[in-house]
Amino acid sequence: MTTIYQIYPRSFQDSNGDGVGDLRGIVDRLPYLAKLGVDMVWISPFFLSPQKDFGYDVSDYRTVDPLFGSNADLAQLITEAAQHNLGIMVDLVLAHSSNQHPWFLESRASRDNPKADWYVWADPLPDGNVPNNWQSVFGGSAWRWEPRRQQYYLTHFLGEQPALNLYAPAVREELLAVVEYWLQQGVKGFRFDAIHFAHYDPQLRNNPPAPRGSTSGALSDSPFGMQDHVYDLGQPATIDFIRDIRKVADRYPGALLLGEVGTVEIARTYVGADKFDLSYSFNMLDIRELVTVGLFREKLAGGLAGFLPGTSCWALSNHDAPRHVTRMGSQDPSHRAAFAKMIAAVVLTLPGGLCLYQGEELGLPTADLRFEDLVDPYDIAFYPDHVGRDGARTPMPWFQDVANAGFSTAANTWLPVDAAQQALAVDSQEEDPQSTLNHYRRLIAWRKNHPWIKKAIVDSSNSTDQVLQLEYRHGNQTMLGLFNFAAESVELKGLGGLGTVEWQEGVSVQNDTVTLQPFAFATFTQAA
Ligand code: BGC
Ligand code: MG
Repeated sequence: MTTIYQIYPRSFQDSNGDGVGDLRGIVDRLPYLAKLGVDMVWISPFFLSPQKDFGYDVSDYRTVDPLFGSNADLAQLITEAAQHNLGIMVDLVLAHSSNQHPWFLESRASRDNPKADWYVWADPLPDGNVPNNWQSVFGGSAWRWEPRRQQYYLTHFLGEQPALNLYAPAVREELLAVVEYWLQQGVKGFRFDAIHFAHYDPQLRNNPPAPRGSTSGALSDSPFGMQDHVYDLGQPATIDFIRDIRKVADRYPGALLLGEVGTVEIARTYVGADKFDLSYSFNMLDIRELVTVGLFREKLAGGLAGFLPGTSCWALSNHDAPRHVTRMGSQDPSHRAAFAKMIAAVVLTLPGGLCLYQGEELGLPTADLRFEDLVDPYDIAFYPDHVGRDGARTPMPWFQDVANAGFSTAANTWLPVDAAQQALAVDSQEEDPQSTLNHYRRLIAWRKNHPWIKKAIVDSSNSTDQVLQLEYRHGNQTMLGLFNFAAESVELKGLGGLGTVEWQEGVSVQNDTVTLQPFAFATFTQAA
């Protein structure tokens, strides 16, 4: 089990000077990833794509988009990564394709072609209206009109991302063949994009309104967030499909399967010996306000409840949300690094899997973009309620004093390099033992050397309003963690038998009094 590092390939390293990151750029940065100490590298989609959703709209599942390089570059990346003990994970978008995929071009052409049922088609209501009330995540009805068939097709994201019909056996077979193809090429695992959208209610029933006061992930104020998603996603047939994926993967020992699943209720049903290894947890990504101990405990409990030990995969940041330092940390920039280190110490000791997002090891804040800089249709549509996907997708800063932070030699990069991010570039942190980067390196190494933590039971019930107190237990192993969530120092008394300090920053112990500086943290191991 595993520390996964997520690369957003457009923004990691550009090797050919076109302003967009690419696979050869990643090859060049393998020593950096090896030194960081992660086990797996998940790369967001680099397949052939019109790039309407920046690669999450795939038009050929077996071919690398020339923008990112070639299949030969990918083969080289897989081989060289293995030499660094890094496994490559591919991001498979199986619930929908691009509307430019040849399958869709064929399917939309008529109601009786061989691929007529490869997508989700439905007649208009007698008054011409859409078949039901389902909403797209990116805003508006989930149905788009296709004049060639005089029918609507289903799309949960952009109109250019039609939902595949996974009830059709031929579609499932084809997608399973894609999974096997990449395993044969040597990839060590997959992240399955938005996989809870793979099936839908065949009767196309209307979703009921969301229960009052509930939120539904990222955009609770969008129409998508106003529904209880009982019919448009999370259907039982998806679990059978996941079992079929597992059967294929089991022919390639060690393959790691990570599902991206929007809600915890569904996520916990997708993991197990004959299903996925890990379900991606949105609980930390959903935190969009200054995080308190109380809020964190609530999200932690929600992300553990009902999960088999070790099957939840945590993430503080990813390419779909503002970076966590900005999203849940103090707005005072002088707290930024201390907060970044403290919250990293929390998640790097949690049981289960962990996805780090490129740049979080530098403590990057969200990039400050002007409306004119935005390229993501989702961000543009919801402006000024800026959801901040572009703000998390700006180029990785490698050098403090080099043009484009060393990301690219192009005059213009696809998103601008952010000045505040560049000030935290890799080279500025490399030699400083106290830097966020070196802190991540130490913690990742610690996690690797303490594999028991991944199956541990965690109890947070002795926390105070200011200090998150985690008690970890597995067999006869125990550990205590103290994490100060506030910018004020605090004294804790009467903890008793603390044991030996495992690692700490800003914590001192005198008899039975523990003093924690602002954002300080420590763990103690107790003799078994
Ligand atoms: C990905 C997004 C993408 C969406 C549609 C998600 O969950 O992470 O970046 O836009 O799926 O494929
Ligand atoms: Mg390039």
